[in-house]
Amino acid sequence: MKKIIVANWKMNGSIGFMNTFIPAIAPILTKTSNQIIICPPFPYFSSLTTALKGTKAQLGAQNCHTDPQGAFTGEVSAPMLADLGCQAVIVGHSERRILFEESDDLVKAKAAAIHAAGMTAIICIGENLTTRKSGHAIDSVILQLQASLPPSTTSQNTLIAYEPIWAIGTGLTASLQEITEMHHALHQTTKIPIPLLYGGSVTDQNAKDILSLPHVDGVLVGGASLKAEAFCKIVSAS
Ligand code: PGA
Repeated sequence: MKKIIVANWKMNGSIGFMNTFIPAIAPILTKTSNQIIICPPFPYFSSLTTALKGTKAQLGAQNCHTDPQGAFTGEVSAPMLADLGCQAVIVGHSERRILFEESDDLVKAKAAAIHAAGMTAIICIGENLTTRKSGHAIDSVILQLQASLPPSTTSQNTLIAYEPIWAIGTGLTASLQEITEMHHALHQTTKIPIPLLYGGSVTDQNAKDILSLPHVDGVLVGGASLKAEAFCKIVSAS
């Protein structure tokens, strides 16, 4: 079955990196029947769009503002991203929730702005280690999800990424059982069939097992999405 693979480059990359990385992954991006969304930092949008021509990969972004335009120095709006051919935007990543103090309300408003601009919102949710250890991971993630989804949400314009905070960039992947339990709970909560992704230390070693779990429609990949060989293996893992 077709899976969704989102590459989150975070604040990484350079023209030099793309000059070797994109040619190395282009053949698999041309062949795959999976949906691939690559989210580079904004300055590389135009080079990546050119480099991805002829492949099936889509361009995504890592953030946007809630307003379509205005006096918000340094910000980028959803319609501007759509203007550049961007098809999806990550919102509510734990790095933004924690480092930039983004609340559920702000995530919800950004997701609504992304929908209004005709793009897909990739809404991230996930518990911290204290919550996981306390046994309340599922309840807390469901509450976070309900508070982050705007009324404009449909199964066509939204992807939900379950990313346990303790698994992001740590090498500590959630166990297959933990992912299964969470995705089952998310599937029951959403009522409409919104695709559900898992993220947090996904590698070429564990992608196949994770992608074969019930209600796992794809993965959101950080570190391994910057390594050509590993990323190609993840793209072809299902
Ligand atoms: P990671 O990052 O794959 O490096 O853990 C995932 C993410 O931050 O989305």
